[in-house]
Amino acid sequence: MSNKADIIVGIQWGDEGKGRIVDLYAENYDVVARFGGGDNAGHQIKAGEVDIALRIVPSGVLNPHTELFIGGGTVVSPAGLLEEIERLAAIGVDVSRIKISDRAHVVLSYHAAADRAGERARGSNAIGTTGRGIGPAYVDKVARSGVTFADFASPVTLEKKIRLKYAERQEAIAGEALASEDELVSSTLDAARRLAPHIVDGVEFLHQKFENDKRVLIEGAQGSLLDVGYGTYPYVTSSHTIAGGACTGLGIGPTAVGRVIGVVKAYCTRVGAGPFPSELHGELGDRLRAAGGEFGTVTGRPRRCGWFDAVAGRYAVRLNGLSAVAVTKLDVLSGFERIGIVTGYRLGGRPAGFGSAGEDGLELEVEEMEGWAEPIGEVRRIADLPAAAQRYVERIAEVLGAPVELVSVGRERTQLAR
Ligand code: GDP
Ligand code: IMO
Ligand code: MG
Repeated sequence: MSNKADIIVGIQWGDEGKGRIVDLYAENYDVVARFGGGDNAGHQIKAGEVDIALRIVPSGVLNPHTELFIGGGTVVSPAGLLEEIERLAAIGVDVSRIKISDRAHVVLSYHAAADRAGERARGSNAIGTTGRGIGPAYVDKVARSGVTFADFASPVTLEKKIRLKYAERQEAIAGEALASEDELVSSTLDAARRLAPHIVDGVEFLHQKFENDKRVLIEGAQGSLLDVGYGTYPYVTSSHTIAGGACTGLGIGPTAVGRVIGVVKAYCTRVGAGPFPSELHGELGDRLRAAGGEFGTVTGRPRRCGWFDAVAGRYAVRLNGLSAVAVTKLDVLSGFERIGIVTGYRLGGRPAGFGSAGEDGLELEVEEMEGWAEPIGEVRRIADLPAAAQRYVERIAEVLGAPVELVSVGRERTQLAR
């Protein structure tokens, strides 16, 4: 194996602009592969007239030469994928490039119903999930009773498995509206027929690419702080979102990986419940939300907003073994007179690490940096940014201990400074 695969991951709570960055890098790769999560993700890309939100299809889609691989570590709604394929075909995308691993798990309507019922049962401790059934689908996978895309090859097996799970799930979804068992069986059998041309032996598919010297870019979903093992548990998603998840999610060894690029928003956002030490509750938070258009791609929920958090950032650099970072949405900070960076946590008067993020009485050390007034959407070289913006980017690199390799200054593909 001569070519190494590079990985792009979000290092905060998701929505860092991964889709936008993957779209840029994809130009230099033959395959873009998703390794985890499902349609809880919403990756927006804007390139001229095209402005799309991708849920499960990899963000290399606007590069006509890249193949798009949905790996075995994902959980995929067949109805959602078909809808996305149709949406892309309608704008002229060659959707035959989309391939899904036979090891990926199938998300069905009873998973979404169980997700909603679970949230209801948690009451005031609700996680604020996207309601897409992601957690329950991973539960079935780990419980060894899930339906996989390999099952789509045999209608008899598929029907048997769905009927069994449907009955089993009844208790967990009490009170939630759900299609009848017969309807679910017939719509899933229909989806299996329509998706058949896209389903591949995922291990064979990807390893053949490596063996044929193809270049593979791996696209993370969610963010490192939503990782099921290392995020702000239990306020996390149900998969490993950090770079290590790429190996298990795609069936590749660590020796297959080259660089790991972390996408970092110039401030922080979080959608859903859970610890967010640098959150700004008042006017500043509202201003960030309005300036950054911080509303969820999947659910439309307003995102919680706050300053860049270097404690969280350094934690994520460690988890991912980052080679470099791409900073996004720097333009959003134009016009803020002062910009805060959380550089330390203290608990009971002592320095504390990210593990204390959810503790009562957590105190923050905030460094205030001078802002800049001018819009920067037209800047194409980091050296041409206003002096205060350059200092801010340098400070991000310094506190993270990772070099900044590009800065995004707008939604449009070309709005980029190197
Ligand atoms: P992802 O989930 O990490 O791919 O991020 P999302 O697509 O959910 O959210 C990022 C949002 O910010 C999208 O609407 C992007 O179009 C937008 N965006 C990305 N980079 C920039 C940037 O540099 N400046 C501005 N203003 N918007 C950006
Ligand atoms: P992208 O890839 C932001 C959050 C949800 C919730 C928690 C669990 O667009 O960055 P889930 O439905 O996964 O069980 O919800 O995780 N969440 C995301 N937040 N961006 C995402 O994806 C997210 N995917 C899940 O809001 O707090
Ligand atoms: Mg998103």
